[in-house]
Parts: sequence; structure tokens; C-alpha cells
Amino acid sequence: MRVDVLTIFPDMFPGPLGGGVVGRALEQGLLTVVAHDLRDYTDDRHRQVDDIPFGGGPGMVFKPEPLVRAVRAFRAEDPAARVILLSPQGRRFDQSVARELANESHLVLICGRYQGVDERAREEIGEELSIGDYVLSGGELAAMVVVETVARLVPGTLGSHESLSEETFTDRGFEPPLYTRPASFEGREVPEVLRSGHHAAIERWRREQSEERMRRRRPDMVRDGATAGGI
Ligand SMILES: C[S@@+](CC[C@H](N)C(=O)[O-])C[C@H]1O[C@@H](n2cnc3c(N)ncnc32)[C@H](O)[C@@H]1O
Repeated sequence: MRVDVLTIFPDMFPGPLGGGVVGRALEQGLLTVVAHDLRDYTDDRHRQVDDIPFGGGPGMVFKPEPLVRAVRAFRAEDPAARVILLSPQGRRFDQSVARELANESHLVLICGRYQGVDERAREEIGEELSIGDYVLSGGELAAMVVVETVARLVPGTLGSHESLSEETFTDRGFEPPLYTRPASFEGREVPEVLRSGHHAAIERWRREQSEERMRRRRPDMVRDGATAGGI
């Protein structure tokens, strides 16, 4: 999978994406992340990407020309590229959206800053994603969240010792409680069933714990039927 990120802070990348599972995928070439400087798509001496808002108001707005020029260049190079603006007003990003995006071969993630992006550039981009109901100062951290979440769903990214099958937001509910050695820690014991070697009983216990955890912690998700097929 290839991910192009359009930003006025390309030096922020790969940042935290350079470590762990995603860092390994980058090294192995399973994933390519390229950060592009929006200023490279300006055509004035000052490489200006923003301007004051029509109608007044605080802050600056990303001008349409550099953004639209960049988007058209990405689409001309790869008509299959899925171009997405990170925006607090966008469709809510969750594990099911991540699974959808993991099927794409090419994402272009556009990071806003300041007050936001000229409406005509938003129309040209067409798709917006929000990572949650709060406002960040820029789209870069949001883009990293999307890349990190999607990348670990790309086949081959996780090692053979890592597994998605019991993870939270799969079709089993939340991940069941995890224990490692020692079997007894400060008087707290690992549940007997996990030490029994009885695979069917362990499987049953894990499934019950998964469902119970989701019911207790996120009743809204149970109500919405999230356990049926994962969200
Ligand atoms: C300060 S925010 C602009 C917020 C905008 N004035 C509004 O009220 O909707 C600057 C940029 O950060 C990014 N951003 C902020 N919050 C986000 C979120 N929850 N999800 C995705 N991107 C976000 C967007 O790219 C946005 O253009």
C-alpha cells in the first residue's frame, strides 16, 4: 500500500510511524509513506498556502489553488488513488473504516491547519475523515492515526506471532483479559482455566469474557449490534 500525505509540515513524517509494526512494514516495503510539502504546489515567490477568510473572522484559511493543484496531480498519476481530507467534520474513522481503507492500494491524506480549508478545495477532494469529536490543531496526527490503524490490517504487516483474530473490534467483542507470567502476582492469581490446558474451556472462557467486557464497558456498541460483525 502507498500513502501520500500532503502537509505543510512534511518533517513530522514518518515520526512515530517509523517505529514498531508500521516501521517494520515501511522497512520491508509492504507500506510506503511519502510526505509532500503543500508549499511545493504554490506558484508565488512566498510559497503562500493560506489567506484571510472572506466575510471576516479569526485565523487563516488554506487557499484552494495549491490544494487543488496537488489533488489533480495525484489523481492524474493514479486515478485509483483515494483522496481524503482529515477534518473534524468528516465521517468518523473507526475499525470498520480502517478495514475498508486497507483494501485500497493508494491513499492520499490531506492535512489541514489553521481555521481549515477553502470550501472549493473541500469539494474537489470530496471525502473527509474525522478521528473523533474533538479539534486538533492540524491533520498530521490524525493522518498518522489512520496510517497506523490501516497499516496493521494490510496482509503481511503483522508478524506470525501477532494476531488480529481476538483483537478488540473484531467479531468477538473486546479482547479478553490477557495474562503472562508469573501465575501469581502480589496475591492476584491467573484464572485457573487459562492454566488448565483445556482448549475448549479456554476458548469458552475467552468468548464469555469478550462479550461481558463489551457489555460492561460499551453498552452502546452492544445495542448497535457491534459484536455481530465487528465494527
Ligand atoms: C484547527 S483544525 C480546524 C477546525 C475547523 N475550524 C472547524 O471548526 O471545523 C485544523 C485542521 O486540523 C485537522 N483536524 C482537526 N481535528 C480533527 C479531527 N478530529 N479529525 C481529523 N482531522 C482533524 C483538520 O485537517 C483541520 O483542517
